[in-house]
Amino acid sequence: VIDSDPLVDALTAVVGPTHVLTEPGMMAGFEVDWTRRWRGRARAVVRPGATAEVASCLRCCADAGAAVVPQGGNTGLVGGSVPRGGEVVMSLTRLDGLGDVDRAAAQVSAGAGVTLAQLQAHVAAAGLGFGVDLAARDSATVGGMVATNAGGLHVLRHGAMRAQVLGVEAVLADGSVVRRMDGLVKDNSGYDLAGLLCGSEGTLAVVTEVRLRLVPVWPHRVTALVGTGGLDAALDLLVRLRSVPGLEAVEVMFADGVELVRAETGLGPSPVGPAPCQLVIECAGLEDPTDALGTVLSGPGVTGTAVASDPGGRTRLWAWRERHTEAVNSLGVPHKLDVALPLGRLAAFEAAVRPAVAAVAPGAAIVIWGHLGDGNLHVNVVGPPADDEAVDDAVLRLAAAHGGSISAEHGIGVAKRRWLGLTRAPADVSAMRAIKDALDPGRMLNPGVLWAVGQ
Ligand code: FAD
Ligand code: MLT
Ligand code: ZN
Repeated sequence: VIDSDPLVDALTAVVGPTHVLTEPGMMAGFEVDWTRRWRGRARAVVRPGATAEVASCLRCCADAGAAVVPQGGNTGLVGGSVPRGGEVVMSLTRLDGLGDVDRAAAQVSAGAGVTLAQLQAHVAAAGLGFGVDLAARDSATVGGMVATNAGGLHVLRHGAMRAQVLGVEAVLADGSVVRRMDGLVKDNSGYDLAGLLCGSEGTLAVVTEVRLRLVPVWPHRVTALVGTGGLDAALDLLVRLRSVPGLEAVEVMFADGVELVRAETGLGPSPVGPAPCQLVIECAGLEDPTDALGTVLSGPGVTGTAVASDPGGRTRLWAWRERHTEAVNSLGVPHKLDVALPLGRLAAFEAAVRPAVAAVAPGAAIVIWGHLGDGNLHVNVVGPPADDEAVDDAVLRLAAAHGGSISAEHGIGVAKRRWLGLTRAPADVSAMRAIKDALDPGRMLNPGVLWAVGQ
């Protein structure tokens, strides 16, 4: 316990004693990530309850030369939300205000600490929806989703988080507040700071509030779980699915992952049996898409289907896909490699990655799933120790060699910073560093994320 730390006294003066944590037992949950692969000790955890408090806390930290790790729901998967050693964790979950829904503009303002589930419930009450959805919805926060430019299940239709963000309020490392919350759909007055903060992973500013675009709630929504003979057949099916009106999701998983989910979660067997490659497909629209979808699914390459259009049935079908993350976590500490490939190279990558992992990590479990429509595969490997990076190296190099990205949606964090140069040229990295140094010259915000400290 640090009981005579002047920084703790200064933070306490800003937010009050109940919102500064220094006792190890109280800080423990803020110090380890969701996968348990990434952890470190915090100097303190501070929980500001308003933008002005965020600004004052950042000024206190700057004066003390203390680095800050912003944290939302701590569901991030690349180690960027937890301390590496000695930083102040700034938890934003108390910034949980929600504005009235503007139904004419289809917009809402949300505090950074609002969870995705809270946002969804709030806008649903006004007859609108939100374009990004993901399985961590009960914990992931709006601020964290902006900071990671979260993708999720409906990118195919609505884009990732950046496409939903019309404006932000954020506090820079020196405590100054940048605010663009007017919700103007058109506003080309200089650099797009809101867009820049999407995917900035807590390294440029602390996001405190966000102005979000909303989407219609369609009267008809249908979900299908579909078996196919393999990834090639699934990719052929994807081509035909693109003609189905209102296509929102085409998610992929494989028989071994589906069986793992069944074994670890208590869900029953997949209704399409042990098909080698299984898809979760969702369409929604003004007209019922069931017949159009059914026509495509009755074509070649489909070995079985289960379809639901009631909320309970749809949730059950989604569960086989959504519960992969927790099922893999129950095997051990995963190496999570979230890669994007050009669709034309996806099958070749998937065929090559399994032997590539086996070559460097014999006996390891490899479970793959992802967002097929976005060319995004999640390659999860359990077996190698957390600090053994051989498997990360093999998979990320393979993705780059196939013309892909080393991070489709989870970010770089600390997990992938070693490989940033695989898919970003030196001039590109220099431009990013210049932005970082301009906005955070003291390198106080999330040091170690994107680049190792000292680089
Ligand atoms: P945190 O984990 O707390 O933080 C993530 C990063 O954002 C860190 O670098 C942190 O410093 C920074 N940050 C957090 N809040 C702020 C803020 N207010 N200001 C500035 N920086 C901040 N991700 C996807 O993209 N798609 C998915 O489908 C998906 N599914 C998931 C399913 C499960 C079961 C789990 C556990 C995770 C999943 N994720 C997914 C990853 C994760 O949920 C997202 O990255 C999410 O956006 C993180 O939000 P968070 O509030 O938990 O952020
Ligand atoms: C997913 O799509 O399931 C998420 O990105 C989480 C994960 O990769 O585990
Ligand atoms: Zn994902």
